[in-house]
Amino acid sequence: MKSAIITGASSGIGFAIARELGRNGYALTVTSRRQDRLSLAADRLRAENFIVEDIALNMADEEAAVKVVARHEERFGRLDVLVNNAGMGVPGELDAVSVKHIDLQLAVNLRAVILGYRAALPLLRVAGAKHGNALVVNTASVTAIRPEPLMAMYATTKAAIVGLTRAMNLDLGDAGIKSTALCPGRVATEMTSDQHGHTAPEQMISAEDVASAVGWLLTLSSQCVVPEIPFLRPGNKG
Ligand SMILES: NC(=O)c1ccc[n+]([C@@H]2O[C@H](COP(=O)([O-])OP(=O)(O)OC[C@H]3O[C@@H](n4cnc5c(N)ncnc54)[C@H](OP(=O)(O)O)[C@@H]3O)[C@@H](O)[C@H]2O)c1
Repeated sequence: MKSAIITGASSGIGFAIARELGRNGYALTVTSRRQDRLSLAADRLRAENFIVEDIALNMADEEAAVKVVARHEERFGRLDVLVNNAGMGVPGELDAVSVKHIDLQLAVNLRAVILGYRAALPLLRVAGAKHGNALVVNTASVTAIRPEPLMAMYATTKAAIVGLTRAMNLDLGDAGIKSTALCPGRVATEMTSDQHGHTAPEQMISAEDVASAVGWLLTLSSQCVVPEIPFLRPGNKG
């Protein structure tokens, strides 16, 4: 049975992607920091008859990626899809952002993705050699390609994810490992719940919209690589 790891899967985009992968027959390892919310999310996925392992981790920790891959391998023995989705943003003028918050965004949004590749590559290489269609999905953001006000640090980390994704396609293509960066504008999740004053959730992209793109990626032949997917709102809004 094919299997996938999804980070930041207790809510929002990560949860929707986990559900999409479950519906496509993948066994799932899901992670996030808060065990109570992760357990609830994992139980919701199990209620749909998906096979689910959950492990609570902070992706800012250096050892997190190694731990999640080890737990996944112990339970499922193979890895076909890695979804590096956990992320966070601290808005503000750059001269008002603390070094702590700069480091945190770099650690969660960028370093954890690099470490995720490193930890998962041995298993992804096996899957790539077997079927030529191992997949890494990295949740970037539309801010990677068109900045939003007061999100410079966040946009920087997400632009780096787009760059990393392109570089990984170059280095891992011959190993049958493809990478895609998802670049959504505003998605109706907890992350944007503070924006409801000016943008109602109904005016935002849905987490399911983004997840359905992952379902589509799974249908592509091994010869088709999609390096990034932008998702905009009507009127070219991010
Ligand atoms: N919503 C948007 O408009 C939007 C647009 C573009 C891109 N994105 C990106 O989409 C991704 C998912 O965000 P979302 O909108 O779905 O928000 P969300 O509903 O708040 O989900 C974030 C998920 O990541 C987990 N998480 C956060 N920090 C973590 C950490 N340090 N270690 C492990 N897990 C962590 C959260 O659980 P815990 O808090 O319990 O850890 C939760 O499961 C992020 O990378 C975000 O940057 C969002």
